Amino acid sequence: MGLKFMTAEEAARLIKDGDNVGFSGFTHAGCPKVVPGAIAKIAEEEHAIGNPFKINVFTGASTGDKLDGVLTRANAINFRAPYQTNKSMRDAINAGEIKFCDLHLSMMAQDIRYGFYGNIDAAIIEACDVTEDGEIVPTCGVGISPTVARLAPIVIVELNKWNPKELRGMHDIPEPIDPPHRKDIGIYDVHDRIGKSFIKVDPSKIVVVETDEPNEGKGFAPVDEVTEQIGKNVANFFIKEMAEGRMPKSFLPIQSGVGNIANAVLAAMGDSKEIPDFEVYTEVIQDAVIDLMKSGRVKFASGCSLTVSNPCIEEIYNNLDFYKEKIVLRPSEYSNNPEIVRRLGIIAINTAIEADIYGNINSTHITGTKMMNGIGGSGDFTRGAYVSIFVTPSIAKDGKISSIVPMVSHEDHSEHSVKIIVTEYGVADLRGKCPKDRAQEIINKCAHPEYRPLLQQYLDGATQGHTPIDLYNAFAFHEALMETGDMRNVKWRKHN
Ligand code: COA
Repeated sequence: MGLKFMTAEEAARLIKDGDNVGFSGFTHAGCPKVVPGAIAKIAEEEHAIGNPFKINVFTGASTGDKLDGVLTRANAINFRAPYQTNKSMRDAINAGEIKFCDLHLSMMAQDIRYGFYGNIDAAIIEACDVTEDGEIVPTCGVGISPTVARLAPIVIVELNKWNPKELRGMHDIPEPIDPPHRKDIGIYDVHDRIGKSFIKVDPSKIVVVETDEPNEGKGFAPVDEVTEQIGKNVANFFIKEMAEGRMPKSFLPIQSGVGNIANAVLAAMGDSKEIPDFEVYTEVIQDAVIDLMKSGRVKFASGCSLTVSNPCIEEIYNNLDFYKEKIVLRPSEYSNNPEIVRRLGIIAINTAIEADIYGNINSTHITGTKMMNGIGGSGDFTRGAYVSIFVTPSIAKDGKISSIVPMVSHEDHSEHSVKIIVTEYGVADLRGKCPKDRAQEIINKCAHPEYRPLLQQYLDGATQGHTPIDLYNAFAFHEALMETGDMRNVKWRKHN
């Protein structure tokens, strides 16, 4: 018996109001592109005649606009986890229209298996190949696909021929046994493979929708003076670490976060002649990794997705023999697994929205309340890293905002996990320092010169104890921003 084929509209009719739907992919890479639009259309039709229609959306990470954006604008999402980067969705979350659960990405698949969110009613998976015996080969992002495809009674496969079938072989797709029977994960080296190169499900539950849709891969912002200097500071830190014997001469695998700054940091590392050729064990493989692979600086990359621009994915697809030897794509619970991060001694480099003078990091919330994207994999890597680094420009919005503040307005990573903070002004090394010394180090090395005297005033006026904190003024920078639009207008509250 052959596979069932349907149009996107017919497949979308299989999804009902209130369903828990698991989607493939990780960032725009590998996520479905036509069935979500057809579901959005059904939602709009139902809303027009007064019927409710909203689904709960589970993915590996963020997705493209053709999923998160289209469904949000159709008011078709009730609940969303674990991460997003879409403007329409961000606005809807911050307006209270979508319930968003911000989660460490390594936990999404297992939390679904543990039953924390109820049953998965359907899985929608983008694939470059699907066979009659139920082998599904993902495209350029894996995420939580193996788990949702196995658990769902309906698996809608978007067979997208924009992606070559020859991608088969780039993936490594295991799925762990759950506690109390889980075994150690047999990844002892960045290259190790422990699973199959496809997802296998009962073919009778597969419905195929054929498409030919390009990726939504936008380019990265060009490296500017500030990001270039941050990159150089990170590279110089590594050179010093090697010279002082704190880093193996052969180097360690790098995890590098999402976004423009992370892309620029990797590029700077590649430019540094004193850093040896290195390997990458990360969640998203961005353009800079591929550029460094071409020049031989990156020897191998393990990730969950090829989150690259469209010209870059075309370069990979046109040279698959070269890249298949150098890249492995895994489910997010393996690419981001804290057990592997600690074992391999990964160097974690992530971007902060704000850092406080004690070393706590806010990666997610603007002024404590508005969700930006989510914690993503930053926590998965930071806590277990050999050395955890956070990078950020010292200021945002033309200096109206200092990224170094007396106290973070929301905390994602605590002072216990954060070892190094880097801005364009320098590197604060927090290792082996007490809170007071950490505060002085961050002010002196990382803060923007305009904000240094203000931060020093705060620290000097703080109540002494183990951690010098002034509870009356801890959020005075944020208060000045809210009241005047500029943190430089800070007014200290008087107290004794
Ligand atoms: N207050 C207000 N806005 C701030 C800010 C602050 N303290 N710091 C930065 N911003 C704004 C910037 O001005 C910019 O705004 P714009 O889009 O209007 O220009 C925006 O935040 C993004 O900052 P940018 O400097 O371009 O950095 P980025 O693209 O590298 O993204 C994060 C930075 C923190 C938002 C992003 O890395 C992220 O979501 N991290 C969390 C998830 C994560 O770490 N994943 C990696 C795990 S592998």
